[in-house]
Amino acid sequence: MKDMDSNPRYSHRPQSMNGYEEAVEFLPATDTKKVEKRDPRWKFVVIGVVIGAAVISLAVGLLVWHFAYRMARVPKVYTGSVRINNYVFVDAYENSSTPEFKQLANKVKDMLGELYRGQKDIGPHFTESYVTAFSEGSVIAYYLSEFSVPSYKAEVLDNAVLNLKIQSVNLRMRQILSVDSFEAYPLDANLARSFRNNSCSYFLHAKPGEVTKFSTPGFPNTPYPPNMRCQWTLRADAGHVIRLHFKTFKMDICKDLTGDYVKLYDSLSIAENRRMMTLCGSYPPSYNLTFFSSQNVMLVTLVTDSKGRQPGFMAQFRQIPQTTLCGGIIRNSEGVITSPFYPAHYQANRECIWDIQVPGDKYVKIRFNMFYLLETGASENSCTKDFVEINHQKYCGEKKPFVVSSNSNKMTVRFRSDQSVTDTGFTADYLSYDSQNPCPDKFTCKDRRCINMAQQCDGWNDCSDFSDELNCNCSASQFRCKNSQICKPKFFLCDGVDDCGDRSDEKDCGCPDNNFQCTNKKCIPEAQKCDKTDNCGDGSDEIGCPEVPPNTCTKFTYKCKNNQCITKTNPDCDGVQDCQDGSDEDTNMCNCGKRPYSRKTRIVGGVNADVGEFPWQVSLHARNDGHACGASLVSPTLLLSAAHCFQDLQGIRYSDPSLWTAYLGLHNQAQRTSQNVVQRSIKRIVAHKSFSDYTYDNDIAMLELSSPVTYTDFIQPICIPDSTRTFPVGKSLWVTGWGALIEGGTGASVLQKADIRIINYNECNQLLENQLTERMICAGFVSGGIDACQGDSGGPLSSLESNNKMYLAGVVSWGDGCARRNKPGIYTNVTAMRDWIKVNTGL
Ligand SMILES: *[C@@H]1O[C@H](CO)[C@@H](O)[C@H](O)[C@H]1NC(C)=O
Ligand SMILES: *[C@@H]1O[C@H](CO)[C@@H](O)[C@H](O)[C@H]1NC(C)=O
Ligand SMILES: *[C@@H]1O[C@H](CO)[C@@H](O)[C@H](O)[C@H]1NC(C)=O
Ligand SMILES: *[C@@H]1O[C@H](CO)[C@@H](O)[C@H](O)[C@H]1NC(C)=O
Ligand SMILES: *[C@@H]1O[C@H](CO)[C@@H](O)[C@H](O)[C@H]1NC(C)=O
Repeated sequence: MKDMDSNPRYSHRPQSMNGYEEAVEFLPATDTKKVEKRDPRWKFVVIGVVIGAAVISLAVGLLVWHFAYRMARVPKVYTGSVRINNYVFVDAYENSSTPEFKQLANKVKDMLGELYRGQKDIGPHFTESYVTAFSEGSVIAYYLSEFSVPSYKAEVLDNAVLNLKIQSVNLRMRQILSVDSFEAYPLDANLARSFRNNSCSYFLHAKPGEVTKFSTPGFPNTPYPPNMRCQWTLRADAGHVIRLHFKTFKMDICKDLTGDYVKLYDSLSIAENRRMMTLCGSYPPSYNLTFFSSQNVMLVTLVTDSKGRQPGFMAQFRQIPQTTLCGGIIRNSEGVITSPFYPAHYQANRECIWDIQVPGDKYVKIRFNMFYLLETGASENSCTKDFVEINHQKYCGEKKPFVVSSNSNKMTVRFRSDQSVTDTGFTADYLSYDSQNPCPDKFTCKDRRCINMAQQCDGWNDCSDFSDELNCNCSASQFRCKNSQICKPKFFLCDGVDDCGDRSDEKDCGCPDNNFQCTNKKCIPEAQKCDKTDNCGDGSDEIGCPEVPPNTCTKFTYKCKNNQCITKTNPDCDGVQDCQDGSDEDTNMCNCGKRPYSRKTRIVGGVNADVGEFPWQVSLHARNDGHACGASLVSPTLLLSAAHCFQDLQGIRYSDPSLWTAYLGLHNQAQRTSQNVVQRSIKRIVAHKSFSDYTYDNDIAMLELSSPVTYTDFIQPICIPDSTRTFPVGKSLWVTGWGALIEGGTGASVLQKADIRIINYNECNQLLENQLTERMICAGFVSGGIDACQGDSGGPLSSLESNNKMYLAGVVSWGDGCARRNKPGIYTNVTAMRDWIKVNTGL
């Protein structure tokens, strides 16, 4: 890189301005004196002058347009590589200061110059080329070429450069350099310029058998600097590939390449068509940030914007022997296949073929358990980038588990990745099955997937093609959709979600109390009527509203600390100050509901929560009982839980604080000594005085920890909703827990999560024979795939709100112990308990 620094070749001459200034000289200078003389011919003169002036102005206008806009020169930069066959790579080519590097670089520059000048659409605009690096193979040269082109010719230049085929050109230089492959890719001129500043460039070569580490400047003691451009050139010995792993990765969130980001290239040029991955934000620990190059080089670049506030990354790499081995001939009747290096990112430019064959009387099926072949912008239908192909059908993108079967004893699975953007790949198991009886003792779906008999006609689409839900007799707890005739659980009725696809489950629904029915039959909370927002979608909630003075106080308006009322719905912690005293954005109050990892966890269809996904989840252990109840952290010293956990029972004083131990930051019950976990004893338990152990009404309790906890990536408080915040029917929420032992089930080791949604109160109350009180929320599973006991008594019902924070919508209370697939669970309504919480916690 050094040789490029000596002359600042990227300063662009302001040619565009010259053109404009010349044109300005032509401006007509009308001779006013002549006009003043009342000569008889003055009329003709005036007309002549006017016409002349008009013609001149037009010409000038055209010239201005021509020079200022059409002729204005724009910088164009292309990057890419050329392969040189008649040179052998030597170590000196890794160092741009060596004579060997400079000598070969000059030859490549001459060759590129000759190549460009020979093309009529390219030559006139060519400015300069630079060689930035070499790598093995025989020798690959990475270059940047700079052009300055009138804007109207920019597109022509683009086409000409990108379609340039070196093989078809006759070059004098080719007698010196035997060049066969040539790649070019357009590059942002600013970006190219900033990467030429090598004040933050590192050149690293893997040492055999050793791990080489590198990190963002200042890591881990100070955040990375703002406005930074850094690059790390990683190399391995010939015949090896690079294995790069990010041990820590914490950066700002980026969006459309604003913010801070890291890019990885399977090349030494920053060409987008060789980009393996863009990384930014923070990844949950379950995301495997391991990458493999396809050759012996890799380039890592870092771009930061004006505000750098995060620690950055720590990475390490080593070399491993290059192997082209993947795929193979398979003759076992069952086994597992994965993309190369799964669960790390697969390499670019790979093809693997598995030829599976089982005994003659059997068929083959393959079940993909994880499938991530995602490339933004690639179509999922045509799968032109990375894909898996089976029986001439291509699969790509991000998929939930799926099954493919063949109608013979053979199956060919082909995996292919193109040269850009890689993902974590797939894992699949294949097995042979009896073509006569594909699912012994099980129900056979149309796609030959096997499901438990009990899952047939239960209202859930377990086969994924609905074949288990056709021609069913609906049970007492089910209703029948009109068009599809499919039976569905009754608790799907009237929740505002179109489960049938024809809205037949949303017809004839009166609205629950405190709700307003829109003209389109949607129900919205009364509070949203006349709030100047179209909550119905048809505007009917904003018709005929009395002209109330703004910010008058009602039951539904948010109240600031200074008693000012705000008409806007959910004004708290939305990033906009609505209260004059700023109390709606109070930093103490709003420091809650945050999840440390900005990236969503990707375990599609999984039930294990990710580490740090619900950092407010607390496990309460009762002496001699182990994990007995859940709770939610709401401040450094306070927890909310369910009152029924602390009722004395069978001679055990569960109401005694000294019986309990709280574990915070816990993920796996078997790893309570992990460094992320904090343990506290309980100082005080306050259960709601009106808790009824008969109806479970008012099932809420407050616990005080013996000493405050410090917030970390694994320990964070959840937000308590204001009494005006509403969680509408149909809203999807998370319930989490290890499975409460106190209810008699067996607990899970790893924290479980389930996506559930709020059920229509009246429908639920009917299903549960009028056992609900007004302080209860009813919620049930959104999709049928899971049938495990989820959630612990006292644990959180977490709701992601529009301000991207999680709010405590409910506390797990009762309902067959916990939420089940076909049984709703009952939760304490936290907004209904808001006053009690305020009195007892001060929050
Ligand atoms: C690169 O080469 C120059 C000149 O030969 C030498 O001074 C310098 O130490 C080399 N740099 C490295 C990192 O080897
Ligand atoms: C290169 O970047 C550094 C830090 O970003 C900056 O201080 C320096 O002025 C830059 N040098 C040039 C030649 O642009
Ligand atoms: C990531 O993938 C690599 C390569 O397959 C593997 O060795 C490593 O254990 C994985 N790391 C995690 C955290 O799963
Ligand atoms: C539905 O009920 C009818 C009559 O009771 C019975 O013949 C049929 O087998 C049932 N269908 C299923 C899928 O259970
Ligand atoms: C919870 O209680 C509040 C206040 O009584 C009520 O407005 C709200 O509708 C209830 N939430 C649910 C989901 O029933």
